[in-house]
Amino acid sequence: MKQLGTDMDNPFVLIPYESRERFCDRVQETQTIADYLLGGSDVTLISPRRYGKTGLIFRVLEEIQERSSEIDVLYLDIYSSSCVEDFIKIFAEAIVNTLKNKSAISSFFRFLGSIRPVISYDGITGNPKVSIVFRDDDEKRSSLLSIFKYLENRKKKIVVAIDEFQQVRDYPNIKMEALLRTNIQQLKNVRFIFSGSKKHIMAGMFADPGSPFYESSRVLFLDKISKKAYSAFIKAQFEQYGKKIDDDAIDFITSWTKLHTFYTQSLCNHIFIREDRYVSLEAAKRSASQILKENEQQFLEIRNLLTPNQWNFLKAVAAEGEVRQPNSGTFIQKYSIGTPANGSRILKSLLDKELILSTTTIEYTSYSVYNVFLSRWLENH
Ligand SMILES: Nc1ncnc2c1ncn2[C@@H]1O[C@H](COP(=O)(O)OP(=O)(O)O)[C@@H](O)[C@H]1O
Ligand SMILES: [Mg+2]
Repeated sequence: MKQLGTDMDNPFVLIPYESRERFCDRVQETQTIADYLLGGSDVTLISPRRYGKTGLIFRVLEEIQERSSEIDVLYLDIYSSSCVEDFIKIFAEAIVNTLKNKSAISSFFRFLGSIRPVISYDGITGNPKVSIVFRDDDEKRSSLLSIFKYLENRKKKIVVAIDEFQQVRDYPNIKMEALLRTNIQQLKNVRFIFSGSKKHIMAGMFADPGSPFYESSRVLFLDKISKKAYSAFIKAQFEQYGKKIDDDAIDFITSWTKLHTFYTQSLCNHIFIREDRYVSLEAAKRSASQILKENEQQFLEIRNLLTPNQWNFLKAVAAEGEVRQPNSGTFIQKYSIGTPANGSRILKSLLDKELILSTTTIEYTSYSVYNVFLSRWLENH
């Protein structure tokens, strides 16, 4: 049994991935994705924000390395990129970071040919920074090609995960999807994971017959973790530290956080800090309302950014929990939304701001407040 409260340790980690022991479930998904990649397919992973895509990617990359020492892995987060130069820079830095030794790095730079990247190391983190100056768009195209050529020609095969892939849609002046697709198509030694949260953009990129990436990869929609798996995980994590948690406390956690991974994890993390040996239903509820208090300022700031009608609509969705027919007379009248056209406009703007999440199943589409804590807070305000 582990020691209590001595080393700031908390089994409910708030980073995407720490270790297998602290990662809940995703067993099936990990196997499926690893099987696809090792079988020669690229994989596209789509889910709402904070469901656990990034964590799962790290888990999959670890799994791949465990299964085969002949395969390297590379992870790129392109969320902060807004143009092809950024993309190339992030890609080059990830490669340099993986290569570590000097001779490998210079052989990579030789592949980049005339563009002569300059490398420096961050004084604090030690992470490599690569700066490249491009003379024109052609040079950008050719250096991207060189990067892929370099990867293709290494001794080891490699899996490259590109997280927040939908960003490439916004790059100006270059048809990035077409360019990437042309480059990637020919590679035999490189497999890709593409991951993204913006469902309509991602689905458009991979499932729209007019798009360059159409049917080029296996598309997986990541769902929530099941109540059964998460409940067992929560119990086991507490028990490992000699803490007992009541079943009704666990039921409260999973339903109050709607099993949206980040929120479930955050509430558990909070409870773990506060309760020494035993977690009752009351204790779980106490932590939940404490979290809402701690986040209040942020919620009020969101309110300031919205019109009164938008805020009213958001509150209405929170009160319902889930709305399937936002245009129905019942919903509109109950919450004084105005005309259906008005309601549709508000809904669209809240979807664009990612304050409302739309979830589509075979039977219906439903809408909920994206941020679960905000949703719970709105229920009482
Ligand atoms: N399988 C998991 N087990 C435990 N916690 C998880 C798991 N997946 C995600 N999380 C938690 O949820 C948070 C959000 O996950 P993340 O992978 O960043 O989501 P996404 O990439 O889909 O936005 C993580 O920081 C982590 O705390
Ligand atoms: Mg992520």
